[in-house]
Amino acid sequence: MSNEKKKFFSHATVETNVGLLMICTFIVIAMAGLVQIVPLFFQHSTTTPTEGVKPYEPLRLIGRDIYIREGCVGCHSQQIRMLESEVRRYGPYSLAGESVYDHPFLWGSKRTGPDLARVGQRYTDEWHRIHLRNPRDVVRESNMPAYPWLQHNSVEGWDVQKRMEVLRKLGVPYTDEEIAKAPNALKGKTEEDALVAYLQGLGVQGRAAAEAAVAEGRR
Ligand code: HEC
Repeated sequence: MSNEKKKFFSHATVETNVGLLMICTFIVIAMAGLVQIVPLFFQHSTTTPTEGVKPYEPLRLIGRDIYIREGCVGCHSQQIRMLESEVRRYGPYSLAGESVYDHPFLWGSKRTGPDLARVGQRYTDEWHRIHLRNPRDVVRESNMPAYPWLQHNSVEGWDVQKRMEVLRKLGVPYTDEEIAKAPNALKGKTEEDALVAYLQGLGVQGRAAAEAAVAEGRR
């Protein structure tokens, strides 16, 4: 082996030269990124809303911010994967077009609790209120924290118009009229109302399209 003449274009050259190995690795990863990630910014299926999916109404938008503030995403994912077991448990798998209005998206990666991508309409509003105030009252062995303060905090002071304007800059098609009327939708509502409204809408609007996609895939 040691007597063999070393060829320059060989694995040995790369493997024995850390600097060259790093440069080659960088090039390979950068190419893979370009090929895999960049097209997603232009693909129809990832940039166009799924049929039925509309921008968040003001109350649900605030509910989403409360969901972020309380760190629910640390225990709950919002993406049903294309696995039979997941589809059976949670419903039709998530389509990319269902989260086009999510800035930032809340797909998450940790499932201490169940996935919430299609929890909307699965329970009554009353169930959610009891569950948020003390999860143990409805699921005895639950280790989810209680959020009893939400029912006492009003959302009237939240600057919903500013939020909608910023989202509009990011491409969410809110009209001037919708923005003007938004504060009315928060009148007399609590943080709990907003969060429940948000949860009850999760995965509902795009469900029919997602069911069709699952059926198509099974054929
Ligand atoms: C420490 C982890 C943890 C955090 C944080 C957490 N949860 Fe949970 N959640 C759970 C667990 C575990 C369950 C399953 C037991 C139960 O239903 O209580 C659950 C269940 C749920 C369910 C019922 C889902 C279903 O399909 O039955 C909803 C809805 C929910 N959580 C919403 C929330 C919201 C909203 C927040 C933030 C305000 C939150 N969770 C924060 C752990 C967590």
